[in-house]
Amino acid sequence: MDKLIIQGKEILKGTINVHGAKNSSLPILVSSLLSEESLSLFNVPNVDDVNNMITLLKCFGAKIRKNKKQLSINCKNLKNISADYDIVRKMRASILILGPLLSRFGNAKISLPGGCAIGTRPIDIHLKGLEKLGVKFEIANGFVIGNISNKLVGNKIKLPFPSVGATENLIMASVMAKGETLIEGAAREPEIEDLCKCLISMGANIDGLGTNKISIQGVENLRKARHRIISDRIVAGTFIILAVMTNNKLEIKNVNPQHLVSLIKILLKMGANLKTLSKSIIVYPSKKINGTKVKTGPYPNFPTDLQAQLMSLMSISNGKSQIKETIFENRFMHVSELNRLGANIKVNKDTAYIHGNQTFKGAQVMASDLRASVSLVLAGLSAEGKTILNRVYHLDRGYEKIEEYLGHIGAKIKRKKT
Ligand code: EPZ
Repeated sequence: MDKLIIQGKEILKGTINVHGAKNSSLPILVSSLLSEESLSLFNVPNVDDVNNMITLLKCFGAKIRKNKKQLSINCKNLKNISADYDIVRKMRASILILGPLLSRFGNAKISLPGGCAIGTRPIDIHLKGLEKLGVKFEIANGFVIGNISNKLVGNKIKLPFPSVGATENLIMASVMAKGETLIEGAAREPEIEDLCKCLISMGANIDGLGTNKISIQGVENLRKARHRIISDRIVAGTFIILAVMTNNKLEIKNVNPQHLVSLIKILLKMGANLKTLSKSIIVYPSKKINGTKVKTGPYPNFPTDLQAQLMSLMSISNGKSQIKETIFENRFMHVSELNRLGANIKVNKDTAYIHGNQTFKGAQVMASDLRASVSLVLAGLSAEGKTILNRVYHLDRGYEKIEEYLGHIGAKIKRKKT
């Protein structure tokens, strides 16, 4: 398992180009299962979760060609096999194949995803929604097996919670269902809008993009298409927070500022000095950064995927801060590790209480989940001395070679293969 050795307090300067969105690429790659024609994708990030999804789709018989610029996928000759526990355990997003496989083959078998570091992560909203489209499920030996007697039939579905994955699964299951599907209480994340735009370019008939009410008129089949993946707003937000933490002037490029409104608002309120351009955000040094109170929530509220990174910044800001986590029941795994680096954070149920004015001092720390790991990298870069981050595989799931990315702007991060 690789380690990162991070030298803190280096002056960072220059420009970071943000790569394509992992959480857009995953559902869009899966949507290719719906079509017998090729789908060409651009700006697909080279991160482990995406590469694992590519491996999974190849196991189903998908023909995939990938170079630096473009990924082409053709799912004409598919063999329907089940996604086993080992794959699903490693990558929860594999649950997204349920909708497309049911649409294509009328049946699907997939291992129950089980929990992970940040929570139990059930799939009840996915299954109940698909049952509304006519699917019969049984759960046996750790697998969920879905069958439909004939074709998926459009219906009205009301989600009890705006689940991102369930919204994506149901949209993909509905695009070739018989008649109209209306999804109310849908999640509104930009990655869902990106999926819908890709499906529309493939010939799907979808209205209500970006809203919590999505209507889909089933079509006969989908056709050849090309699509460019949006920029990764969580990676962009991570690097914006890094620039504020290290108080350096940095430009974060290939960004859609519209997707970061909640973060920008909070950072400005804390005293950050940001300039928003059409496709980039420039962070300038600021005199003082003050603590604040934040609550995570479904888009467009403050994203849970930036909660750990913001906590890192709050630890060295002036005064007290609070973060209330409302999406996942166990997403404070980074707190104990940040405290090892010198933070002063206490957790009580779903709220973290952060005492600011701390100084990070380098130490050995352990990554636990994707975003917790990157919060430790941010802390290490602003710490006195050296920080060693273990279990870097968590980080590689969603950040392209972070030591090279940040090395370009002066960060001293070395990867030690063990
Ligand atoms: C997506 O996960 C993202 N992953 C997550 O990003 C992100 O944190 C999450 O949305 C919330 O924004 C991908 O897009 C691949 P949910 P997803 O279904 O779809 C509960 C990262 O770091 N729930 O919106 O799994 C669930 O337990 C990852 O890139 C049910 O109860 O999230 C959770 O508490 C981490 N039943 C809440 O809803 C269900 O059937 C949000 O889950 C489904 C979800």
